[in-house]
Amino acid sequence: MTTIDARDAEARQILRTNDRGGYTVPTHGLYPYQWNWDSVFAAIGFAEHDMGRAWQEIETLMSAQWPNGMVPHIVFHQIDPGYFPGPDVWRGVGPVPSSGISQPPIAATFVRWLLALDPGGEARARALYPRLVEWHRWFMTWRNEGGAIVVTHPWETGRDNCPDWDGPFAAIEPEGVDQYYRRDTTHVVEEERPRRWDYDRYLYLVKLGAESGWDEAHLGRVTPFRVADPTMTFTLLRSTRDLAAMGRDWGEDVSELEAWIGQMEAGAETLWNPAIGAHDTLDIRSGAHSGVVSNASFLAWYAGVGDDRLLAAYDRIMTEVRYGVPSTDPHHPAYEPKRYWRGPVWAMLNALVALGLAEAGHLDRARALTDSSREMMRENGFAEYFDPRDGAPAGGRNFTWTAAVWLAWASPNTRNAIWAAYI
Ligand code: DGY
Repeated sequence: MTTIDARDAEARQILRTNDRGGYTVPTHGLYPYQWNWDSVFAAIGFAEHDMGRAWQEIETLMSAQWPNGMVPHIVFHQIDPGYFPGPDVWRGVGPVPSSGISQPPIAATFVRWLLALDPGGEARARALYPRLVEWHRWFMTWRNEGGAIVVTHPWETGRDNCPDWDGPFAAIEPEGVDQYYRRDTTHVVEEERPRRWDYDRYLYLVKLGAESGWDEAHLGRVTPFRVADPTMTFTLLRSTRDLAAMGRDWGEDVSELEAWIGQMEAGAETLWNPAIGAHDTLDIRSGAHSGVVSNASFLAWYAGVGDDRLLAAYDRIMTEVRYGVPSTDPHHPAYEPKRYWRGPVWAMLNALVALGLAEAGHLDRARALTDSSREMMRENGFAEYFDPRDGAPAGGRNFTWTAAVWLAWASPNTRNAIWAAYI
């Protein structure tokens, strides 16, 4: 039996091994670049033993910010032929080679946490502040549908192949996509990755964006894929609250941020689907809700808009699996317990759900989720994701964000003051 102490040491070692100098890769081989929210999780892991390195991780990410404010989802610091699609396909237009889409904007929240853990880092947090405001403004300008935040590619949400995209993807005919060779399935078995059908559409949307020079105004008009999403809406809402709190402390004018918070609170409600008793995605093109309860649905508490309406869905789903939170409701016909975002458990999402539950006063549920996640990782290590039936590891191994949330949240030895306040 692997002990908690041994896992602590292993988690630190994973962060060291995946460190490429100023930024961290999610894992060797499968994801050889800097990913946006992976890096932000890495920072909270580094905060356990190296505060300077924690700040640096977010500074490196923000140095890839585009002139229009967007912070890309992948930054291609050093070319690696083991990953597809690379910079030649994306044709990003920022200061560093990058993808052309963003990712869940959790950074402002994590910057506030780093500052709480390291008050001496205030100058670094203040230097990041205007960049974070610019990034949030990009979302509110280009991705705002009545206060709900839309994505123009599933990869933006991080939940690449969850069943929420099946409806909007069925309406896309991926014409004109050049022949391509996937690299992901050379690293991970096919059954744990998206299908070819999904990849054809992923690449169609990348091509559409790249050919427009990533012109958001143009894409907003022409893209067939424009879907309001709980991951983006809830993380941006939470991050904007944290950004406004920091700004207030520093005497900044935060009226614009407060207006965004009000808009997003209203927008979050448009994602509520009474048919499933949870928030889900809303396809702006067709007007249809996906009808899928996902682990992202349970970020409502983290965003400060979760209310007791959501508890029934949460409690039902958690009794149906040994390890929660499954990325797709096990009752949904599209549930596949080993396929990436169609069922597996993601520890880093659990960390945010547990914190949100605790902040909303649902302490028993927060502790139960923390305990089961700790057990899952202690037994099975730091995989990318886990099978909800038995915790079997799946996807990439030696994964940065899994190791990071072990250190920051799940390990009773090393967890930080943010989670320790509740759990
Ligand atoms: C991938 O390549 O699977 C990534 O999730 C894209 O961001």
